[in-house]
Amino acid sequence: MCGIIGYIGKKEAFPIIIKGLKWLEYRGYDSAGVALLNGSLEVFKKKGKVVELENFVVSQHHGGSIGIGHTRWATHGEPSDVNAHPHNSMNGIFTIVHNGIIENYAKLKTDLIQYGFTFSSETDTEVLANLIEYFYNQSDEINSEMAVQLALSKVVGAYGIAVLCNAEKDKIVVARKGSPLVVGLGNGEYFIASDAAPIAEFTSQVVYLNDEDIAVIKKDSFTLKNVHNTPVSLKISSLNLEIGELDKGDYEHFMLKEIYEQPKTIEETFRGRLRADHSEIVLGGLINIFPKIQQAERIIIIGCGTSWHAALIGEYIIEEFAQIPVEVEYASEFRYRKPVISKNDVVILISQSGETADTLAALHLAKEKGATVIGICNVVGSTLSRETDAGVYTHAGIEIGVASTKAFTAQVTVLTMFALKLAQARKTISAEDYQMLVKELAQIPEKGRLILQNNEKIKAIAEKYKDAINALYLGRGYLFPVALEGALKLKEISYIHAEGYAAGEMKHGPIALVDDNLPVIVVAPQDDYYEKIVSNIQEVKARKGNVIAIVTEGDKVLREMVNDSIEIPDSHPALAPLLAVIPLQMLAYHIALLRGCNVDQPRNLAKSVTVE
Ligand code: AGP
Repeated sequence: MCGIIGYIGKKEAFPIIIKGLKWLEYRGYDSAGVALLNGSLEVFKKKGKVVELENFVVSQHHGGSIGIGHTRWATHGEPSDVNAHPHNSMNGIFTIVHNGIIENYAKLKTDLIQYGFTFSSETDTEVLANLIEYFYNQSDEINSEMAVQLALSKVVGAYGIAVLCNAEKDKIVVARKGSPLVVGLGNGEYFIASDAAPIAEFTSQVVYLNDEDIAVIKKDSFTLKNVHNTPVSLKISSLNLEIGELDKGDYEHFMLKEIYEQPKTIEETFRGRLRADHSEIVLGGLINIFPKIQQAERIIIIGCGTSWHAALIGEYIIEEFAQIPVEVEYASEFRYRKPVISKNDVVILISQSGETADTLAALHLAKEKGATVIGICNVVGSTLSRETDAGVYTHAGIEIGVASTKAFTAQVTVLTMFALKLAQARKTISAEDYQMLVKELAQIPEKGRLILQNNEKIKAIAEKYKDAINALYLGRGYLFPVALEGALKLKEISYIHAEGYAAGEMKHGPIALVDDNLPVIVVAPQDDYYEKIVSNIQEVKARKGNVIAIVTEGDKVLREMVNDSIEIPDSHPALAPLLAVIPLQMLAYHIALLRGCNVDQPRNLAKSVTVE
């Protein structure tokens, strides 16, 4: 998704903006630009990487202590210099950076053309820039923030914007609806960004804008109101980002660092929740709402991508132990299919970023229908965390790699604690089983550390399959969602077509794919499905398929039967996803690396899909 940066204060804006844009690169983009207010309004923008923009601008800009910057993830108009942001209004009075989609831009553009406006780009953002100028020109009484407000009142869609005005060179106007914006409070300076990462090194005091907020930021003032002109009080939050989290350290990529962090991040997810004596699980964010959850007639778990895979594991574990019916939905389907939702439903929305447009739309629909809505989210202060009735932070720390890894295992950890706590409260689990599971859960981080020692072996396996065109991932039970997640990891960073399938479904179609060119990755620990999945492996081998199996350590039978195997420590089947996913993440990472792919910023993808 697009990234926005802004600075107003005493320092030179350019270096701060460029550094901030480099922090936002992980969101995915294809072009970048910067606008600086000094004696005049200077705009520099180009297709390509932020470092190219930096080299292009550093020798020709004229400084200035007010500026805005943008990384663009193309929606309207192909990646190009002219479509990059910032966009000027026709007469150069305004320049704007925008994250989001203006759905009625075509109609607005037609109207503006009739009023004599011309356009140089194909973007919806340039339409907004001209619309602001249109209102600004209506009367001398209308200042820049009023023109922004009037223009936004005509807009249908999502926006996070920062606007500079060439005729009012002492302010930045920002506004949001559907695309996040956070303002960092400094001493005589303010920082604006799409998320907190670029701000963290400058200040820990931030204000998260809410939908329909409009702010006027000057060097010595920050006033907030909404599109209806009602003043909004500043709610100042403290950032808890450690600068160290924003650095790769000794790792070649953020994704590798985040894979290796998982034992620690799962421990962070436990912290304060999984008591040492395993007596009870405390989910502080749900304390007041838990009685309602206990009586739920149904739980609906909603997410996208990897978060949807975590939701599937949640369904299995909640139904097995807490015995409440669970349904899992893709947010992008749920929001439009006219689902039946009642006030007796509990809806859990899972999102690492807390800003995924489809997931937020599903949240709003569930709330409208009166359901209790709970968030499982990784970004403190994100929209999801602020708009749900209650929630649980995953505490995985900032996840920079576009391919989600530690956030996934943190989500599954929260869902596991949630299910066990619910089962204990509903007395659908014996005290012995509860104690056994909680004790085993506490051992997962140590078992994860053992799995990470397979790195060299997994690298060697990756070497064998890096040129595959297709791949098939199979699993049963709790490991079916893990097969889906493994396939997603491979396809999104190596661009190899990969499908995850319930192993029992193989004979209903996918087995036709099997030949000696097809790597089949089978998640096959010694659980209740073991004999069945061994049969599936034999069916693949009989058709010359190449099988890579994730097996329980010491499993000599499968080790002899398959082409390659990676061992994981034994665990209760319900906890196996937290272990089995790690080698799949590592396999995808090494294959992508061997294929020369950009592991942290795979093509076409964004870290947080804040538009539909
Ligand atoms: C996962 O590796 C992908 N990057 C993607 O599927 C992601 O899980 C999805 O976009 C949902 O993001 P969220 O968890 O931030 O809502």
